[in-house]
This record gives sequence, C-alpha cells and structure tokens, in this order.
Amino acid sequence: MLSTHYAVTGNVAVISLDHPPVNGLALAARQGLLRDVTRALESSEIGSIVLTGNGRIFSAGADITEFGTPDALAEPSLRTLIEALEDAPKPVVAAIDGVCFGGGLELALGAHYRVAAAAARIALPEVKLGLVPGAGGTQRLPRVLGLRAAADMITDGAARTAAVLAELPGQKLLDLVVDTDVESAAVRFAESLGNSVPLPRIRDLTVDRDEDLAPLRATLAKRGRGLRAPLVALDLVEQARGPFSDGTSAERAAFTQLVDDGQSAGLRHAFFAERAAQNVPGVTKDTTARTVSKVAVVGAGTMGTGIAMNFLNAGIPVALSESSREALLRGVATIRRTYEAQVEKGRLAYTAFVDRMSLLETSLEYADLASCDLVIEAVFEDMDVKRAVFTELDAVMKPGAILASNTSTLDIDLIAEFTRRPSDVVGLHFFSPANVMSLLEIVRPKKVSDEVLATALEVARRIGKVPVVAGVCDGFIGNRMLARYRRAADDLLEAGASPGQIDSAIEQFGYAMGPYRASDLSGGDIGWAVRKRQYLENPDVRRNEIADELCEMGRFGQKTGAGWYDYEDGRRDAVPSPVVAELLASYYQRNGIRPQSYSAESIVQRLVFSLVDEGARILEEGIALRASDIDVVYIAGYGFPRYRGGPMYYAETVGLSTVEAALRADGIEPAPLLVELARDGRTFD
Ligand code: 3HC
Ligand code: NAI
Repeated sequence: MLSTHYAVTGNVAVISLDHPPVNGLALAARQGLLRDVTRALESSEIGSIVLTGNGRIFSAGADITEFGTPDALAEPSLRTLIEALEDAPKPVVAAIDGVCFGGGLELALGAHYRVAAAAARIALPEVKLGLVPGAGGTQRLPRVLGLRAAADMITDGAARTAAVLAELPGQKLLDLVVDTDVESAAVRFAESLGNSVPLPRIRDLTVDRDEDLAPLRATLAKRGRGLRAPLVALDLVEQARGPFSDGTSAERAAFTQLVDDGQSAGLRHAFFAERAAQNVPGVTKDTTARTVSKVAVVGAGTMGTGIAMNFLNAGIPVALSESSREALLRGVATIRRTYEAQVEKGRLAYTAFVDRMSLLETSLEYADLASCDLVIEAVFEDMDVKRAVFTELDAVMKPGAILASNTSTLDIDLIAEFTRRPSDVVGLHFFSPANVMSLLEIVRPKKVSDEVLATALEVARRIGKVPVVAGVCDGFIGNRMLARYRRAADDLLEAGASPGQIDSAIEQFGYAMGPYRASDLSGGDIGWAVRKRQYLENPDVRRNEIADELCEMGRFGQKTGAGWYDYEDGRRDAVPSPVVAELLASYYQRNGIRPQSYSAESIVQRLVFSLVDEGARILEEGIALRASDIDVVYIAGYGFPRYRGGPMYYAETVGLSTVEAALRADGIEPAPLLVELARDGRTFD
C-alpha cells in the first residue's frame, strides 16, 4: 500500500502524505511520493505541485524502525526523492503543518518554496538519536538560515516554531507563514507563481551569513559528555561554506557511520523505551482518563512548590495548601522568585509569568480544595502526618477526585487505606527540583483503578513529564537502585578509592555528576538524618562510618563550603580536600585496611553493575513492568548517559554473563533472573 493521496485543485497537484502514525518516510511513503510527483510532472494539466502532510503532521522524518533493514537502503532513497523535487521543472511548494522533523524538513528543503503554519514545529532532531541529518539537511539549512542559526538548530535538535524561524534576519527557509489553513494557502501561493523561472534551488545558494562557529564548538565539547553526533554535525555545517556536492558526500559518509554507532543504538533504544513505558497493562484505548482541570497541592515546601509550577506552566490552575500562613507565604514566594529569575534571564516572557501567577490560588482550609480533580500531597515524610492529611482529604474531596501522594519511601498501599476510596489513590513521585526534572514515577498501589492510572499517564503527558509506572516497594524503582549504587561507591571508598577517582570515572562514563559531587550538591545532612533514623530502628544495620564522620565535622557539601570536597569562596568547583584525605587515611589505619587502587573501568563496572543487579531484582519482583522502564527511570531521573541506553540496555551490550562474572568477582551473588538469562544467552526484554 502506498502512503500518499493525489488530488488536483485547478492546475495544482496536491500530494499529501498519509503514513501513520507520524508520516515517517518509510519505503512505502517514499515510493508513493515519487510516483505522485512523476505523475504530476507528466501531466500536461498540472502547472505546479503542493506537497503536504495529513493536516495534523507534515512528517516526523525517516522511519526509525526501518534503520538497519533492507528497506532503509532500497530506492527511492530520501536523497533520490529530494533530488527529484529539486530538479522538477514545475514549481514544488511544501505546505508545512504540525510537525516537520528530520527527513521531513529535508524533504521540504528540496522543494522550491515553503509555506508554513505559524505554529508548525520545525526541527532537525537527528543528534538526539546520535545521528546527523542524512539527506542534505546539514548543507541546505545553513544556505537558508546562515551558518550559526543552522548550526544551533542542528546541534541542539530542538524544535522551533515557524513563527520564530520566520523572524530570523535574512532567512530564506520560509516563503510564507500563515495562521489559516496551510494547504489552501500553499495552493494559492502555487497558483500565483505562474510560469516563473528559473526555480529557486537551495543547493545553488551560497552561505551568506558566515559566522564563527568556534564558540559553539567549545560549548558542545564541554556539554556533550562524550556524545559524538553534535560535533560531527558541526563539522558538516562548516562544510556548507564549500561546494554543495562535497558537503553532501561528507554528510552521507558521516550518517552511514553514525547509524552503526553504539551511541545511536543506545539513543534509539531510549526513544522507544520512553514510548513503551506508556503501555501499561490494564490501560487501553478504551480506558477513559478522568478530566483534570484543576489541581490541589498540599504542602508548599521543596517539592510542593516545584510540583505546583509544573501545572501552572501547563496552564492548569492550582490551589496550593499549607498548614500555616507563614509556610504558605514562603511557598508562594519561592514560586514567584523562580519565575522572576527566569524572566530576568530572558527565559520567560513577563506576560507568561503574570499568567502563571494568576492561575495560583492559596488555601489554609481543606474545604477549599473540594472541587479540585486531582490533589497531590507533598507534606512531611511521616506516616502520621500523611494519615491526617489523607483522612481530611477523603472527607472533603468531591467523588471521583484523585488523591495522590509524592511520598518517596512510605507504603502507598497503607496510605490508600486511610481513605474510603483506595481505588482513587495513586503515587505520583516527582524528583527534585520537581519543576525541572523530567521523570515521574507513577506508583501503582494494589487497589488503584485503571482509570486513575490512565489519568496519571495523561496528566504526565500534559505537564511534559516522562512517566514510568512502578510497583510499591521501598524506594520504588529509582531510589531503590540508587541505594545500591551509593553502597557500591561507599564500598570502593572504604577499600581505598578516593571520592575524586570514583566521581571522575563515572563522569568519564557520561554521568553528569559522580555520587560524591552529587551528595555535596544536594547536602550530606539529608542522608545522615535517614541513616541516624535507621541506626535507631535497627542497631544491626551496617554503619557508614566515613560519611557519618564527615557530617559530624559539619561538612554537608556546597552549602557549608565543604563536604567530600572543598568549595573555596562560595564557588561550585569541587577541590580535592586534604581533610577528607586525612579522614580516609585514618579510617584505613583504624581498620587495618591496605588501600587498593582501582582502574576507572573497574569503578564504573562496580557502580553500574550494582544498578543492573538491583534492576534485575526489581524486574523479577514485578516492581518494574519491563527492563526498558528501568532504563527510562535512570536516564530521565538519575543522569545516566542517555547514549548508553540506560543500565539494563548497557548490561546487554556488555553481555549479561560478563556482568554476572564481574558481580561474583566482587563477592555479590547476582539476582537469579540475571543468572538465568546469562545462562540461556537471553536478554532482559
Ligand atoms: N520513525 C518511526 N516511528 C516513529 C517516528 C519515526 N521517526 N517518530 C515517532 N514514531 C512513532 C513512535 O514510536 C510512536 O509509536 P507507538 O505509538 O508505537 O509508541 C508513535 O510514532 C507516536 O509517537 P509519539 O508517541 O512520540 O507521538 P507524539 O505525538 O508525542 O510525538 C513526534 C510525535 C514529535 C514526531 C515524536 O514522535 C518525535 O519527535 N519523533 C522523532 C522524530 C525524529 O527523530 N525524526 C528524525 C528521524 S532520523 C531522520 O530523519 C534521518 C534523516 O536525516 C535521514
Ligand atoms: P518540605 O519539608 O520541604 O515540605 C513539606 C511541607 O509540608 C512544609 O512546608 C510543611 O509546612 C507542609 N506540611 C506539613 N504538614 C502539613 C499539613 N498537615 N498540611 C499542609 N501542609 C503541611 O518537604 P519536601 O522535601 O517538599 O518533601 C515533601 C514530600 O515529598 C515528602 O513525602 C518527601 O518524601 C517527598 N519527596 C521529597 C523529595 C526531595 O528531594 N525533597 C523528592 C521526592 C519526594
């Protein structure tokens, strides 16, 4: 089946792509397009061609699922198709609506003219998949936007609206931007062209805005943390200064190389994993999500304020509730300050700030929340306080309202039982800072209804979070694995590795921050308070002597100017600390330990394989629905390098038997599931 429609309006052939779900340019779509373009060129009735999408989306680009299959290499290739458009003797107008990404934009760049809806989202997102545009994008975009604007767009991969792109000085990307129906506007545009020749071809243009790309290169090298594609893309953009054919040959070679690169495979895994995470047993197309038009947040502390901002940002009214007037005022001030800082940095328009604040209501009475559709509790992490809050909420909230808890450690099954409506109670575990971090663990208590889960997934989508459903256990998916990872780091520390060695090994691996720098950033006192509670509750629990001693010295991290590292003059640069070196030396001496030295590789193995081992247990217990969900949690919430695909995927690339052997060598009995899969030569999913 060919995935296009051919229609004629006057003397204009309108060729529309119709290849669900996102008009990916798979072989059938390419064949359909070429057939229709040929037909229009051969017809004497046709004077010009309009190329359009399905009204909702122009095209999301190459079909990613086709990569690595024979279809990807079959003719017509995307390049052949683009050449056919560009060489066409009749004017070709691309009518861009909805999404125009990757190969979709490259296709539009092959047209002679482009008409776009103002709200259309336009991007070359290939770097997000570890790739570079492979069908002329790196050579044509700089010729219509200038070197720097094109380089920014290609190396960050982010979407810009047509309205924004049309404002770029001297841009030749868009010939017309409309607020009305783009297809009719494009037809009128095509009709107005008459027989005008010669037809403009982007490949014939030269780059007229030739800016210095060295500063961008320096930024990318620093921020990339080992990701190759953006730097390769930048090299290619630089080549747009030279002949078009040299640039496209270089682009083709780079694309072919990157498609087979492990980084791209990891990023593609992450892309599909995020989408798979939204398939939840029990939630089908027929499960109706409840309407959520107003949200209440109880507790305006660190988390409550961040959570509230997610909804305000999405235009959803919030009632913020507290137990005292002071705490409420403090919470509102935090929200206001956060937005004001964004306005000052030029990241938020003043009018948007005013709009968001106008959606915020405050309350000191539960009764005020009664009409909200969803209430998220973010009060102290104490079961008695949660009980009091949920009992009150149960009494006042309207029937059908969803009662959610942001607890990180408490048993949500128990919390649900504080109410007479356990099927309406769910865990919504946000990550700090909640207005920034993209992960949302949706914790599924035993009695929660499928409808409530469907609503939670829908809410996550509306506020732009990456949701993963987790079962109830201590720490859910993410924090439970984090505890193992931290324990593995501390084991290495106790055996002779320094915080600097451990951090730098894991940062080389691609993490934004190693465990000790991260602890200094968030504050060592938080973990210390938890440990002290554990020591009281269970005198046999293994003590973390080194970390405790550090906290006893008042070294809580950046906020006290000293932690695992020293921070001089209030700066954020972590400087190795002689005090910590001394503390470690005395620990080794006291315990008769001969400090061992570890290679960066063995440190990474120790830390990452403990994540994998705990992940396998989580999978075995059904706390995670699939291994790729665990990958999503670790990438979106814990800084695991996305191009490595997440810990479970990474373990598969290394080989599960290698992981098993390494764990055993460290004296760890691996999870039974891991042993079984390694024995059978299978993978997690
Ligand atoms: N190829 C194949 N499948 C794709 C796809 C693509 N390019 N883009 C999306 N899909 C699939 C998704 O996997 C999902 O499938 P599922 O329903 O089975 O889970 C379905 O389409 C819908 O996708 P989303 O859930 O993401 O839908 P949204 O409406 O939220 O978003 C989108 C749509 C903005 C297009 C988003 O999917 C997206 O950003 N896709 C990636 C686009 C991309 O990276 N394009 C570049 C491809 S590489 C390229 O073009 C190379 C060229 O230079 C040669
Ligand atoms: P916090 O101490 O900053 O804020 C709690 C707020 O709740 C305080 O402002 C307090 O006045 C208010 N409060 C207490 N009892 C109340 C009541 N009965 N009614 C209304 N308000 C009340 O705590 P934080 O860090 O925001 O944590 C809140 C919850 O979020 C906890 O359950 C915590 O485990 C969880 N969480 C915390 C994360 C973090 O990194 N801080 C991350 C993820 C979850």
